[in-house]
Amino acid sequence: MKLSVIGTGYVGLVAGTCFSETGNEVICVDIDEAKIATLQQGKIPIYEPGLEEMVRRNAEEQRLLFTTDVTSAVRNSSIIFIAVGTPQGLNGNANLEYVRNTSKSIAKAMDGFKIIVTKSTVPVGTADQIRQWISEETSHPFAVLSNPEFMKEGAAVEDFMKPDRVVLGGDDAEALEIVKELYEPFLRTGNQILVMDSRSAEMSKYAANAMLATKISFINEVSRLCEYMGADINDVRRAIALDRRIGQHFIFPGVGYGGSCFPKDIRAIISMGGDQEEMSLMKAVEQVNERQKRVLVEKIKRRFGAKLSGKIFAVWGLAFKPRTDDMRDAPAIVVIEALLQMGARIQAFDPEATVEARKIFGDRIVYAARNYDALDGASALLVLTEWNEFRRPDFERIKELLKEPIIFDGRNIYDPVDLKKLGFDYYSIGRKNG
Ligand SMILES: NC(=O)c1ccc[n+]([C@@H]2O[C@H](COP(=O)([O-])OP(=O)(O)OC[C@H]3O[C@@H](n4cnc5c(N)ncnc54)[C@H](O)[C@@H]3O)[C@@H](O)[C@H]2O)c1
Repeated sequence: MKLSVIGTGYVGLVAGTCFSETGNEVICVDIDEAKIATLQQGKIPIYEPGLEEMVRRNAEEQRLLFTTDVTSAVRNSSIIFIAVGTPQGLNGNANLEYVRNTSKSIAKAMDGFKIIVTKSTVPVGTADQIRQWISEETSHPFAVLSNPEFMKEGAAVEDFMKPDRVVLGGDDAEALEIVKELYEPFLRTGNQILVMDSRSAEMSKYAANAMLATKISFINEVSRLCEYMGADINDVRRAIALDRRIGQHFIFPGVGYGGSCFPKDIRAIISMGGDQEEMSLMKAVEQVNERQKRVLVEKIKRRFGAKLSGKIFAVWGLAFKPRTDDMRDAPAIVVIEALLQMGARIQAFDPEATVEARKIFGDRIVYAARNYDALDGASALLVLTEWNEFRRPDFERIKELLKEPIIFDGRNIYDPVDLKKLGFDYYSIGRKNG
């Protein structure tokens, strides 16, 4: 099949590349000329495991093209995916400006029947809105389908190639059949494609993210109570995880959720409810998360006081989670800004996110080239992202490099008993002796 993906970001690039991997001819479009130039040179502008090699291979086979020319892309495709950003608007609502612009450019370029598929996360009712925007510009026939994306950054290629499920919304039977066929190669292991109306498909994406964010805020709140009452969240977590109705996934306490999706999607749900349906649980989920992002700052204040001038803090991990360079709404931003405000100096290391972090902090922090370099002369180490390479460090070396042997572990990756034996003052989330 011949298809285009408009918006070549995390989602668009992964989706376009994976569709080309199964033999389709794919044109990836973006308005960002620098991004397209980088991709045309066989380099990818983001870090995503396994993606660069797949992009290069399919580009070499001429199945994957990159362009800023939306008109030729639309004319050379029968299916057009919209994968542009839907950032937070002024009132917490999803800003549909990019979706609107894209719909209008598709419509203006149309020269016959096209299937337009929304992959961006969009509020319920957006498919109807897109239909209207397009029909204002063209008299050519078209179908609009909703196909929310559930991939996880850091495992996006794997998730796309072997999805838990594919959700497809719409009412044009012929268009649905064509897009179902496009997904067929990804569902060989028996995972399902669920067809429903557009509104339910759009809602499914928000409901999934709301559930996941709720799990995180839930366990974070319980971890606070554990600390207060002298229980250990690690034991409590394991005890509840064995109940199959609860399950073991996504109930790890930490410094709060971040990233480009959960924060904005939770706010978009609250905004969707408006005055009619108060989303009280979602408001609480967000409130707990905002508080949780400051949990290490509170511990640091208790340990060192509120004035940190002259002190250096080492930070391991800046990205909002491991295996990505994405810094959007990362908890590290809140933690580091708070410490800078209190007069501290920061020496940070992240295996992939330094370029993105520099866009946020500029020269206000020092970026270490290696993880141990960040420790030199620091009063404490903070672990903010659980990259695998931080899990088994050389603790003796850490002790030698730090001014004082103190670790604030925002991801509970070390054992409190072991660290105590090694002579560290160890602070973690919701655990005894830590
Ligand atoms: N990142 C994720 O893990 C993830 C997962 C599932 C769903 N989503 C959703 O997918 C959508 C895209 O997310 P992302 O993380 O890929 O965003 P992104 O910011 O990485 O990429 C969006 C791209 O769209 C481009 N763009 C904007 N307007 C355009 C236009 N008119 N024409 C062509 N290109 C245009 C931008 O230049 C950018 O490269 C969002 O709605 C997001 O909520 C994201």
